Amino acid sequence: MNEIPRGTLDEQTFYEQVGGEDTFRRLVRRFYEGVAEDPLLRPMYPEEDLGPAEERFALFLMQYWGGPTTYSRHRGHPRLRMRHAPFQVDSAAHDAWLRHMRVALDELGLAPEHEAQLWKYLTYAAASMINTAG
Ligand code: HEM
Repeated sequence: MNEIPRGTLDEQTFYEQVGGEDTFRRLVRRFYEGVAEDPLLRPMYPEEDLGPAEERFALFLMQYWGGPTTYSRHRGHPRLRMRHAPFQVDSAAHDAWLRHMRVALDELGLAPEHEAQLWKYLTYAAASMINTAG
């Protein structure tokens, strides 16, 4: 059997495999372009400038997938359900959120298995964020 070289794909984090920071920043940038135009979602964001929200979300995703832990150094434990409690996340908000995410993910052009893994996580996480019936 051939010697397995160090640094093969298996040793890389998902974050590295999909292209690192640049990939996550592109995903989140495109997602927020959709949010900025969305009549249901846009008013939910407390700040006038979506830039800081975009930054928090990008740092969270990078950390989640094995990149730098900058998110937690700035924000502490994610506690995402708790952080979404002030917002009315119902099925319409959930659907709109995932719709913009789908567009953003498609534009990344990832390998199918990476894309499927990311989408599975995002759909699962979005469903778990619903906190309002209807
Ligand atoms: C299901 C529909 C969702 C809606 C309507 C929604 C809406 C929001 C809103 C209004 C904020 C506040 C913006 C800010 O000031 O940061 C926020 C923050 C955030 N959301 Fe969501 N969200 C949803 C799902 C998700 C999901 C699935 C994730 C993770 C995969 C996520 C991750 C985050 C993060 C990391 C923050 C910033 C938390 C912090 O304060 O540090 N959200 N979201």
